[in-house]
Amino acid sequence: MLRTHTCGELRTSHVGQTVTISGWVQGVRDKGSLLWIDLRDRYGITQITIETENAAKDITDVARSLGREFVISVTGKVAERYSKSDKIATGDIEINPDKIVVLNPAITPPFTIEDETDGGDDIRMKYRYLDLRRNTVRKNLELRHRLAIETRNYLDKLNFLEVETPVLIKSTPEGARDFVVPSRMNPGEFYALPQSPQTFKQLLMVGGFDRYYQIVKCFRDEDLRADRQPEFTQIDCEMAFVEQEDILNTFEGLVRHLFKSVKGVDIPTLSRMTYADAMKNYGNDKPDIRFEMKFVALNEVVKGKNFKVFDDAGLVVGICAKGAAEYTRKQLDELTEFVKRPQVGATGMVYARYNADGTLKSSVDKFYNEEELKKWAAAFNAQPGDLILILAGDEHKTRKALSELRLEMGNRLGLRDKNTFACHWVIDFPMFEYNEEEGRLYAMHHPFTSPKPEDIELLNSNPGAVRANAYDMVINGVEIGGGSIRIFNKQLQSRIFDLLGFSKEEAQAQFGFLMNAFEFGAPPHGGLAFGFDRLCSLFGGAEGIRDFIAFPKNNSGRDVMIDSPSPISQVQLDELAIGLKK
Ligand code: AMO
Repeated sequence: MLRTHTCGELRTSHVGQTVTISGWVQGVRDKGSLLWIDLRDRYGITQITIETENAAKDITDVARSLGREFVISVTGKVAERYSKSDKIATGDIEINPDKIVVLNPAITPPFTIEDETDGGDDIRMKYRYLDLRRNTVRKNLELRHRLAIETRNYLDKLNFLEVETPVLIKSTPEGARDFVVPSRMNPGEFYALPQSPQTFKQLLMVGGFDRYYQIVKCFRDEDLRADRQPEFTQIDCEMAFVEQEDILNTFEGLVRHLFKSVKGVDIPTLSRMTYADAMKNYGNDKPDIRFEMKFVALNEVVKGKNFKVFDDAGLVVGICAKGAAEYTRKQLDELTEFVKRPQVGATGMVYARYNADGTLKSSVDKFYNEEELKKWAAAFNAQPGDLILILAGDEHKTRKALSELRLEMGNRLGLRDKNTFACHWVIDFPMFEYNEEEGRLYAMHHPFTSPKPEDIELLNSNPGAVRANAYDMVINGVEIGGGSIRIFNKQLQSRIFDLLGFSKEEAQAQFGFLMNAFEFGAPPHGGLAFGFDRLCSLFGGAEGIRDFIAFPKNNSGRDVMIDSPSPISQVQLDELAIGLKK
């Protein structure tokens, strides 16, 4: 080994010992008679101190030749420092070197390898291997590792088996777009990379593996956001001989175990909210319930006073921001601008201040006198000092916009502390959603999800009203995981494909393997998958998932370090029987 200790390990108990440590030069300070080298590795930083007058000349010469990020190995005696530092764990000691070996010099890095680096996103991604040397990124990956280990510990204790499923599978039309891989041996035919191992884990249940999990890469060719990568990782799980209740209990157990073992945080039993209530009260199927600020519908209270915006609206709905009555005109204008942004999509915002002195004042005083405003306040159960914000318009759009405004107010009022964790289940999702443009139904979760038994009748009369045995786990307003109880009967599965617009032939060609398997004794089963990257970033208190992935892609789906995707040669294209050349 080129070291006896790491750069994070030495303490006063080692004083007097001769040691060898290796790492990267964080920096060199040269005060003439004294020269210091900060040597860094994954475990910490150790100071090397050279008294130039007493040290051998070759040691001083080598030390003076070092640049940032040189890889060196230092052998010397551990000494107690005169001036100790409590900033680093090794701050009580230093090494007086007998030997310094340059293992590899380095050119100047394009950004500083510090917690607060001067490197922007693009440059950090291009030189990700340098970025990985930074504490912040390394800590994120250490956290990821810990979460993976604890996940395996928990599931292993419950008899779950980790089984690998294939990565070259079959393209299917449901869900997001597939990434496809041409097959050289089968010209003109393609594999697809799995969007999830969904059908395979169901087949494992048919195969008798009644408790499966896998920490697994999934691939989706969809538009990217801070919490979405084209390749991401799931903790994918499935169980046989279970009902929804069993799944919810088992996997909220996993999340509570992770919080306890990794963060030392006790999470109470998860509350449950139906999809219908989530939409009604928060306008969102993944509400952040760290704070209340529920929606209040005002149609009955505000209509018929000649205010056209409200009279013409399908929905008038608002929130009450506690203690925000003193918001200035400027702040209110900012909020109006916020809701009018295209991403939010409201046409305007009405507000009413419930002043501390008990008076009420609104932005539509022309139409509503104080008596009327009192009725508004009563609807919100508002108190003096509160601010009421109201949006109006088409029902669906208005709920969505108010949901954004609610989250914005939550941020502004400091109600979304990243160290507070509010975990809950959203249950009873609708089975289908209707796509206006295509005039067809889509599976809201996926086509293998079972309808609630009591709603099966509605499949014929009113499929839009059928609820599914599907559930999402939501933490702090992020969809951390989702799953369902599955269909395990060929006829019902075939009926669902029918409703989704598949012909019998298409359904058989795409999913025949699964439906046929159902005829050979498929057990009742269900499961879910957690977004592992999202879980890591939540635990790490971050917004995006990128810094919890060693080598992520940028928002255009590119890996700027290896410069991928990239064109391939005509020879390769010909071999793959693909005629196009870029
Ligand atoms: P679903 O599509 O809901 O379910 O995915 C499960 C979880 O994966 C995470 N996730 C993502 N994370 C990062 N980048 C992405 N592009 C991305 N897409 C999804 C989310 C999500 O909750 N097979 C089903 C699960 C099941 O029914 O058992 C599935 O894949 O956190």
